[in-house]
Amino acid sequence: STRIFSGVKPTGHLTLGNYLGAVRQWVETDQHRAGALFCVVDLHALTVEHDPARVRRLSRQAATLLLAAGLDPELCTLFVQSHVDEHTRLSYLLECTATDGEMRRMIQYKEKSARERESGGSVRLSLLTYPVLMAADILAYGADEVPVGEDQAQHVELTRDLAVRFNQRYGHTFTVPKAVLPTVAARVMDLQDPTSKMGKSHAETAGIVYLLDEPDVVRKKIMRAVTDSGTDVAYDREARPGVANLLEILAACTGGEPEHLAAGYDSYGALKKDTVEAVLDVLRPLQERHAALTADPAYVDGVLREGAERARALARPTVDAAYRAIGLLPSV
Ligand code: TYM
Repeated sequence: STRIFSGVKPTGHLTLGNYLGAVRQWVETDQHRAGALFCVVDLHALTVEHDPARVRRLSRQAATLLLAAGLDPELCTLFVQSHVDEHTRLSYLLECTATDGEMRRMIQYKEKSARERESGGSVRLSLLTYPVLMAADILAYGADEVPVGEDQAQHVELTRDLAVRFNQRYGHTFTVPKAVLPTVAARVMDLQDPTSKMGKSHAETAGIVYLLDEPDVVRKKIMRAVTDSGTDVAYDREARPGVANLLEILAACTGGEPEHLAAGYDSYGALKKDTVEAVLDVLRPLQERHAALTADPAYVDGVLREGAERARALARPTVDAAYRAIGLLPSV
């Protein structure tokens, strides 16, 4: 049967990009297929300057939001990365499989390390090794499929390379996974800067729709989205990135197709209005469930406790097998 693994990093409040690019697939399709695990990857949040209390708060919030979005603990396993030691155990073995050149070629490392240095900060070593920990997340569970947005595709490619290399050198140990991207909205762009990704940890928030934004805030952000100098509505990601982004958001929220939707509009104003309504229709039930779940933290704790137990039991044998395969003396 198919094993599915994916994760979300608690470095900021979850955005519409996270939802449309990843979480929606988890809820609507992935969790209904056999063996899906979803993880709040809190260790990954420590790779950049962080505030301990905030990371703790965001981890709980992310888990609560994933449940509010519709992950059902009867169908899938939801847990927090740091609750399962197998991730860091395996990560070290994969550090001994990967090369530093491979790490330095990662687009996200290049961008994030440049940003840290520009703002006068230093780069944590864990930012460089981040993709190895991510590979460990995936390989520990023998995942076949990794449903992610486009920005994570390179990391999943690296995970494949490491799995293949490890298997070739030490004998078959890992399933070689593949990334699964959504057909629309695989890369939701910032509403104020439609040539860059809508990212939860960006400082400038006017172009980011957060899943917990009030309806009025959502309306304002979308109505003020940067469009393009043309006046007719056409779907062209290169020439008209702002309008294309709105069309993709609308398509993803309503189940339509961006090209097809474009034909139905003759003004940007009308397109924006419909996009506002479509996004609000998606967020409303999610926000209601989030409010209810926030009032019941013991329930969320229970889900995470059981999730970690299930995850540990699944990861343990694979990671133990990797320890033996790579040449470590078993403890008896
Ligand atoms: P993260 O937390 O940045 O994002 C979580 C998921 O949301 C997707 N995503 C987007 N999709 C479309 N448009 C956007 N603007 C957008 N922004 C984010 C991401 O592609 C991702 O699927 N490294 C990962 C977390 C991770 C992980 C893993 C994922 C750690 N280990 C193992 C899968 C498997 C990350 O930072 O995602």
